[in-house]
Amino acid sequence: MINVDEKLNDPAFFATGAHYALFDRLRAEDPIHWTQSPDGRGYWSIFRHADLKTILNAPNLFSSEREGVAPVIDAEMAAIAAEAWGVGQNVAMIDAPRHTAVRKVISAPFLPKALAGSEARTRALIGKIFDDIPAHGEIDLVADLAVRIPMAVICDILELPAEDWDDMLVWGKMAIGGTDPEYRQGTVAQTVRYGFEQLHAYGLRRAAERRGCPRSDPLTLLANATLEAQALPASMVAHNAAQIILAGFETTRNAFSGGVLALLEHPAQMALLREDPRRLRLAAEEIIRWSDPVISLMRTPTADTELAGQRIREGERVMLWFPSANRDAAVFARPYDFDVTRHPNLHLGFGAGPHFCLGGPLAKLEIRLALEALLSRHDGIEISGPVERVQSTFVGGLKHLPVKLKAHRR
Ligand code: HEM
Repeated sequence: MINVDEKLNDPAFFATGAHYALFDRLRAEDPIHWTQSPDGRGYWSIFRHADLKTILNAPNLFSSEREGVAPVIDAEMAAIAAEAWGVGQNVAMIDAPRHTAVRKVISAPFLPKALAGSEARTRALIGKIFDDIPAHGEIDLVADLAVRIPMAVICDILELPAEDWDDMLVWGKMAIGGTDPEYRQGTVAQTVRYGFEQLHAYGLRRAAERRGCPRSDPLTLLANATLEAQALPASMVAHNAAQIILAGFETTRNAFSGGVLALLEHPAQMALLREDPRRLRLAAEEIIRWSDPVISLMRTPTADTELAGQRIREGERVMLWFPSANRDAAVFARPYDFDVTRHPNLHLGFGAGPHFCLGGPLAKLEIRLALEALLSRHDGIEISGPVERVQSTFVGGLKHLPVKLKAHRR
């Protein structure tokens, strides 16, 4: 008999892929499950699509600000979480009405209209990353492509130089993936704190250089923003700069690499995309559903309430398990079929409600253009070594995907 709570709190468990089977069982038998946690307080685990949607769409009752949205790790992490993540300062961890105002400051460059105008530029940027890999031969698809594509795109939007990529990558892995032994330096909390401190200092420095500048990139917008007639405090500039940088590359790389792996494991789906690349738009949605870059997010109830018949008290945190919602047969026909033509595709991979992912359209554009480049340049792609996943209960995905590429016959 497995100990369910131990598994739900174990980052290594999520690197095995066995969480999908556990979620199937819990959705059926115990969909709102009280979970003991290493910080000693416990939380409600929520598994069904309908219940996640209800919570995400009730931000006044289920707060992002009260205790933040990052999953519970341990007591040491709990002690530093608010400062590291910027609870009450980072757009993802602020409630209305301030949330609406802060989101408005940074949103313009990520709106679909702005992205449509820069699609050719994004395609060219992605093309340059592909130019740097061999047409034939072995690469690590994560390190050589999946990491570099969203980094190039977000740094172009933020107007950040390529020589800063390597530092940002190291800090990002520590801040988001501090539970993985490969990225850990000291305890998890020490790792996460160091990653964030570096990102905050970097974001603040880059934003400060632009104060008073007439530019329109998100860092300039943050540097020059006012909130309630005051300049945005430095800590808010730092936390929101870090949020955009991190959100810009950490999740998208996992979606793209997870999508390529899914296509390699389902060659008939790959053939459908080669046959008609117009299918790439729907494929990008299915890749988000299938690869589940965000594993869990937290909310804290601001009052006693009831969810699907279960009484939940004020302050009893709820953990939303996204891979579970995205395989819920109540919403998805044949949820374990990877189907690039799935439509409609009501996945919750980008969340829902007022905190719905600001970068969703950008992430989908990147995935579509990166797959377009991969399929048009390479005829054959084969897995050539062991595939490794990140150990995390928060943002999951691939660490290594060794592949052998064969150039397109012209
Ligand atoms: C496949 C890639 C991505 C996935 C799966 C993803 C997922 C998510 C999810 C689930 C949320 C909701 C958080 C919540 O409700 O607490 C979110 C929020 C957010 N995402 Fe993404 N994201 C992705 C890419 C991006 C990109 C490229 C950016 C670029 C800027 C971005 C920026 C943000 C921001 C700023 C928020 C906070 C929005 C708010 O609280 O109003 N994301 N993302």
